[in-house]
Amino acid sequence: MNNLITLNKISKSFLTNKKILVLKKINFKFNLGKVYSVVGPSGSGKSTLLNILSLIDKPTSGLIKIDKDIINFSNSVKNDKIRAKKIGIVYQQNNLLPDFTALENVYLARLSLTNNKKKSLDAARQIIKKMGLSDRVNHYPSELSGGEMQRIAIARALINEPQIILADEPTGSLDQTTAQEVFNVLYKLKNSNRIIIYATHNRYFANKADCKLEMIDGNIRTINARIK
Ligand SMILES: Nc1ncnc2c1ncn2[C@@H]1O[C@H](COP(=O)(O)OP(=O)(O)O)[C@@H](O)[C@H]1O
Ligand SMILES: [Mg+2]
Repeated sequence: MNNLITLNKISKSFLTNKKILVLKKINFKFNLGKVYSVVGPSGSGKSTLLNILSLIDKPTSGLIKIDKDIINFSNSVKNDKIRAKKIGIVYQQNNLLPDFTALENVYLARLSLTNNKKKSLDAARQIIKKMGLSDRVNHYPSELSGGEMQRIAIARALINEPQIILADEPTGSLDQTTAQEVFNVLYKLKNSNRIIIYATHNRYFANKADCKLEMIDGNIRTINARIK
């Protein structure tokens, strides 16, 4: 039983001038210990899917089960807690807080859960060290390179030891070498009790996942990217 996330007939439409149906009754099970990439052209619904998985956006219809919980999208207080505890999110443009140092950006994410400043700071220092950025703890985001910012963003996503890591084009604004560094960090986070899901436009990185999901016409087509 290593299935952690189940999507059951997940649909999502947006109503602007006209209704657009972005996700069409998606059924999928994400298994622990696996790394998934999500590919598809711009506008195919990658971010929409990740936003629903992160419980930030709600589906128009369908069910999501995470672990034993069927997500109630009306209960945002509970979902905020589930997210803080279980889900780490990395975006394309790292959305670090500009007025806080690297260390503060990371430790605030922990503080919100534990309320213990000393422990949160220690944990933040440790995880930043793992990212190889100990000498940047007191730098502000504007004083970091793109790759360093993304590694700090990953440290922040990781500080609460989430079971689920979601990354939406985490290297979309980086050159290939820097992107490789960031992905190296991301792949190292794989373990048997975790799911990593990332959207990317980069075919090379997409193929590094255990399982590649292609968004086609509002649905997911599975391509096993790597034979294990
Ligand atoms: N908040 C929104 N309101 C209206 N339309 C949206 C919204 N978010 C996304 N869309 C539309 O949904 C489609 C899928 O978008 P998105 O999930 O961002 O695609 P991708 O990440 O694959 O580029 C696009 O046509 C986009 O314009
Ligand atoms: Mg997107």
